[in-house]
Amino acid sequence: MTRKPSDEPENALSSPPCFAADFPGYFGEGSETPVDAMLIERLNALLEAERAGAKVLAILRDGLDQRSTVRHVLERLQKDEGANAVLLYKTIQRLGGVASHDTGAFVHKTLAIDGLTARLGFLNKGQSWVVRKIDEALPDVSDPVARDMLEQMRRSHVDNIAACEALLGEGLPG
Ligand SMILES: [Fe+2]
Repeated sequence: MTRKPSDEPENALSSPPCFAADFPGYFGEGSETPVDAMLIERLNALLEAERAGAKVLAILRDGLDQRSTVRHVLERLQKDEGANAVLLYKTIQRLGGVASHDTGAFVHKTLAIDGLTARLGFLNKGQSWVVRKIDEALPDVSDPVARDMLEQMRRSHVDNIAACEALLGEGLPG
């Protein structure tokens, strides 16, 4: 017997079901994931702040004697700020955003202040601003890796603010 083309089994596949949901990324839909513009904006503000913090701390560190204990503390803080900037930059790119290349106005504002004590006091205000901004952002961050990064960044800022306050409590030259 002859079968009509409409009876051919392959005709059952002429309109295949969509398996896209079962294979996330396989059909290239990952690149079409909408970018969370609000999150990218917040991460870029933090990126610029961390970049500025790293720059200010490098300048303040380099102005101190190699054997100075204050220098060692600033060295550690500077590394944290630099590492945060790198993490933020990579996270923004991973989330499909465009990472800022700007450095916050914080550098010039800090260096316009006279004396290490006052500059570190101002630095701590900037660090507290970062903690507040992370607190504002966290409730809306659904990406688990970005959440972990921000929570870790918050903890290190709280620790570094305390370390800086301890230095200020001991009294600094200038
Ligand atoms: Fe910071």
